[in-house]
Amino acid sequence: MTDFDRQGHFLSIGDWPNGRLLDVLEAGARLKARGRDEAYRPLAGRTLGMIFAKSSTRTRVSFETGMYQLGGHALFLSSRDIQLGRGEPIADTARVLSRYVDGIMIRTFAQSDVEDLARHGSVPVLNGLTDLLHPCQVMADLMTVQEAFGKELEGTSVAWIGDGNNMANSWIHAAMKLGLDLRLACPEGYDPDPELLEAGSASGTVRLEREPVRAADGARVVTTDVWASMGQEEEAEQRRRDFEGFVVDEALMRGAASDAIFLHCLPAHRGEEVAAAVIDGPRSRVWDEAENRLHAQKALLVELLAD
Ligand code: CP
Ligand code: NVA
Repeated sequence: MTDFDRQGHFLSIGDWPNGRLLDVLEAGARLKARGRDEAYRPLAGRTLGMIFAKSSTRTRVSFETGMYQLGGHALFLSSRDIQLGRGEPIADTARVLSRYVDGIMIRTFAQSDVEDLARHGSVPVLNGLTDLLHPCQVMADLMTVQEAFGKELEGTSVAWIGDGNNMANSWIHAAMKLGLDLRLACPEGYDPDPELLEAGSASGTVRLEREPVRAADGARVVTTDVWASMGQEEEAEQRRRDFEGFVVDEALMRGAASDAIFLHCLPAHRGEEVAAAVIDGPRSRVWDEAENRLHAQKALLVELLAD
C-alpha cells in the first residue's frame, strides 16, 4: 500500500511536531482576536468537502462557517447520500473528490478510512472524529486551556474522567507532544488505546488511575465525555452501570486545583458523566471550548489549504 506525507494532512495530533501544533494554537488565538474581517480571505475560491458518517452539530457548523469566513466554501456530504454509503470504495471517493475540492474533512468510524482518504487523494484531509481520535476538538480544548492559564502548556495537569475513548486518545497525543501531566481515570475495561497508553506512560506524561479522585487531585483541568460514544448506543445501559462513580460532580471538583476549569467536548448528558452544577457552574468553560472549535479549525484550514 502506498504511503503518504502525513504533514500535508491533520489526521492525528501525534503526526505533527509540537512547534507546528503550538503555531496553529497561536494562529487560532490571533484569528479569534481579529474577529470578523471580511478583507481576510486566504481561502478565496477554495472548497472543503465534509464527509459525515456520524451526526454532528459543532464540527459541521464550525468547519462550514470557518470556510465561509476565510473566503471559501464548504460542502456537506452525508455518507448516506453520497455513493460512499452504497459501497463506492474510499480510495475512489478520494481520487474523485480531489479533482473537485481543495480539502476534505471527514467524520467516520475507522481511523483507517481517514488514512485511506489521505493516501489515495491528492488534497489535505482533516480528521473530524473517528472511533480512535478527535484531534480538532483537542486543539480547541488546548486553546481554551491557554486562555485560562496562559500560553505555556508544559506541566499543566489534566484529569480525564470516564471512557478511554477518541477524546482520551487525542489527549494522550497532546500530553506527549506538549508535556502535559495527564491523569486518566477510566473504569476497568474502558482504557484508552493500549499502544497509545503505553507510549504515553513511557513518556512520563500520562498516568492511568482507576479512582477519579486520584486523577482529579490538584488538577487544573478536569474533563470528561459521554459514556457511550456514537456507534455504542446499544451499550449505553451496560455502560451506565460500569461508569457508576465516574461522574464529574462538585465533590470531585473540590479536590481539583482552586482555579480548576471544567471542559467537555459536548454533547453532554447532565446527571450521567457530569453534574448540571458543574457544567452549568462557574468553573465550566464548555461554551468557550465549543466556540474555539471555529478558531482552531480556521487556523488548521489556513495552515493546510492556503498558498
Ligand atoms: N464536540 C463535537 O465534535 O461535537 P459535534 O458532534 O456536535 O460535532
Ligand atoms: N466521544 C464522543 C465525542 C462526540 C463529539 C463520540 O465519539 O461520540
